[in-house]
Amino acid sequence: MRIVVLVSGTGSNLQAVIDAVKSGELDVEIAAVGADRPDTYGVERSDEAGIETFVVNFNSFETRAEWDTALRDKVLSYQPDVVVSSGFMRIVSEDFINAFGGKYVNTHPALLPSFPGAHGVRDAIAYGVKVTGCTVHWADAGVDTGPIIAQEAVTVLPEDSEETLHERIKVVERRLLVQTLADLAAAPN
Ligand code: GRF
Repeated sequence: MRIVVLVSGTGSNLQAVIDAVKSGELDVEIAAVGADRPDTYGVERSDEAGIETFVVNFNSFETRAEWDTALRDKVLSYQPDVVVSSGFMRIVSEDFINAFGGKYVNTHPALLPSFPGAHGVRDAIAYGVKVTGCTVHWADAGVDTGPIIAQEAVTVLPEDSEETLHERIKVVERRLLVQTLADLAAAPN
């Protein structure tokens, strides 16, 4: 199974995927890693790992639609079986997702459908939930919507800040993402 991974930030989930591929635990080929902005640590990590990288800079396009098409064409050029949004902080269009037969996986640091959006961890703490977690799902063109593939719960501790809770969620999220990709690679359809 060939994947293209999209990142916007530090790419620690991506690093877990890279490590699992390197160790042989995960039998997928990372065809490329792409970002929506320059100078992400996610792209730097991939360069260091010898993986092909690209940037389709959101801010270099007049409209979202032009950016979306350029990103779609770039990702299509790698012919992935699955596209992975791993800390990719942009919504893509239905056209984009259809170009990959709907095979667009996203990870989210909350138990969807609770707390979608860019601040899933902060919003869960603000609401006062005692349990949150992470979700790996098939993404559609909505904000963190689409069929759920896997979820795991994480307990919120009274002393948690957004940072400490997100760090614990990400430990689980990395494992869940690697496991999900392994399952998809074993049974691609
Ligand atoms: C993850 O928790 C992801 O679900 C969220 O942002 C975080 C990305 O972390 N959207 P990283 O870039 O993989 O370190």
